[in-house]
Amino acid sequence: MNRPSESFVLPARILHWLMAAMIVTMLFVGVGMVASVSERHDWLVRLHKPLGVAILLLAVVRLAVRMRHPPPPLPAELPEMQKLAAHISHWLLYALMFALPLVGWAMLSAGGYPVMLSRSMRLPAIFPADAVAFAVLRHLHAWLAGVLLVVFVGHVGAALYHGLVRRDGVLGSMLGRGRR
Ligand code: HEM
Ligand code: HEM
Repeated sequence: MNRPSESFVLPARILHWLMAAMIVTMLFVGVGMVASVSERHDWLVRLHKPLGVAILLLAVVRLAVRMRHPPPPLPAELPEMQKLAAHISHWLLYALMFALPLVGWAMLSAGGYPVMLSRSMRLPAIFPADAVAFAVLRHLHAWLAGVLLVVFVGHVGAALYHGLVRRDGVLGSMLGRGRR
């Protein structure tokens, strides 16, 4: 394993910001999809599935990058409770990056719907067709998206607190400027 440095490594930073944009887009697209059943909004559904599956694939790459390159340590003077909150929320975000696409995919499988990534590319079912499981997974998908939104808002709040109030370089480490 490499020694922790002052910034996240470049691949980790690229993946973080790329996936942040993709995940926030997915939250809006998801809500837009369920808020309207108009055929004119079909494109939102066609975008939601491949983008969600791309997030799942990138999450695998990102986890591998994180295992190989540990993140820079948090500032030593940061209270232990805040360090713990940072670790828990980061692992929760990782868990959600995997769980949301997998539950979305499993939900469509349980409903017997084909998961099309393009007109001709169809993913295999990952859950047996079952009406009750479809209903449960559909609720679970919406509930997990709600949890993601709440953790994301807390995460951005914490990033701004570090960047604007504490000015301890934590935000800089994700922007490539190092801890101080
Ligand atoms: C990070 C990835 C994902 C995020 C953040 C996300 C987010 C959302 C959100 C916010 C909704 C609206 C929920 C509601 O208010 O009822 C939604 C609905 C939906 N998502 Fe996802 N999603 C993701 C991945 C996926 C994937 C990979 C699939 C399928 C392959 C999928 C399929 C669906 C479907 C079919 C709905 C509509 C469910 C309904 O009719 O109630 N999602 N998603
Ligand atoms: C767009 C606004 C965002 C800002 C300003 C932001 C900022 C940051 C900062 C400053 C860090 C470094 C924290 C540290 O060193 O402990 C970080 C790490 C992290 N962020 Fe974000 N972030 C944003 C969006 C997101 C989103 C949407 C996700 C995923 C859902 C996410 C997931 C993570 C994770 C998992 C880490 C831990 C480091 C890693 O292993 O990648 N972030 N973020």
